[in-house]
Amino acid sequence: MKNVGSFLKMKQDSDPIAMMTAYDAPAAKAAAEAGVDLILVGDSAGMVVQGYDSTIPVTLEDMLLHSRAARRGAPDTFIVTDLPFLTYAGDFSETLAAVKKLLQDAGVQAVKIEGSGETFTVIERLTAAGVPVMAHLGLTPQSVGVLGGYKVQGKTEQAANQLIDEAIEAEKSGAFALVLECVPWQLADHISNILTIPVIGIGAGHKTDGQVLVYHDVVGYTDGFVPKFVKQYANVQSVIKKALEGYVEDVKSGSFPEESHAFTMDEETAVKLYG
Ligand code: KIV
Ligand code: NA
Repeated sequence: MKNVGSFLKMKQDSDPIAMMTAYDAPAAKAAAEAGVDLILVGDSAGMVVQGYDSTIPVTLEDMLLHSRAARRGAPDTFIVTDLPFLTYAGDFSETLAAVKKLLQDAGVQAVKIEGSGETFTVIERLTAAGVPVMAHLGLTPQSVGVLGGYKVQGKTEQAANQLIDEAIEAEKSGAFALVLECVPWQLADHISNILTIPVIGIGAGHKTDGQVLVYHDVVGYTDGFVPKFVKQYANVQSVIKKALEGYVEDVKSGSFPEESHAFTMDEETAVKLYG
């Protein structure tokens, strides 16, 4: 299994890091078999699996369920799980309890937390306790209420400079990697160059040390809006719809099940019992 040292070495060797989200066993298995370097059990599960319109309602129990499933599907892949909204903004012993469950019960390797300020203190304390932490800056979806929507971050000189300072602080606080979401590619390039730790981009252009996308976006397992930064490699939803329509049609017309799908008993017994 890869580890934080592997990801650092990949950056040093200019070997791009491919991260992919997964929330269940078959997706995690597919991701691992496709050769992703690490899996993110993201709280985007709240949106793409649970049908919420933000990540705010996602709970620790949700993340534990998704993490356990992903772990079983990809037993040999490094997994990082998102700490959900408000599980790292207050009492540190609550944060520790959440992390303990994720690492000990669900068996993931690391956690990801969003934001700056007090988040850096949390990164420092968790890292000191032996927990690998991935930072997440730029568009931080758990703060959608404060940001006022899902918008590109760091576009002005002042905002860009602030983001650079935060990225440096994230590294100083001990994060082993940084996710940069929805920032101009020039800024993401600059931050990737000045940091020692790997920068994994989403909507951050082609010059970061790695990329991450949401599984459902990549395979097209969604009917909804596809963000500009997504490259969709398939349209699984249309395949699923076609399959389900075929099933309903066959049941209604009586052409499913066929003889080959049925179980039988000894002919003589059947005749004796039922004529
Ligand atoms: O929850 C998630 O999928 C994420 C990625 C978009 C980085 O945090
Ligand atoms: Na997330």
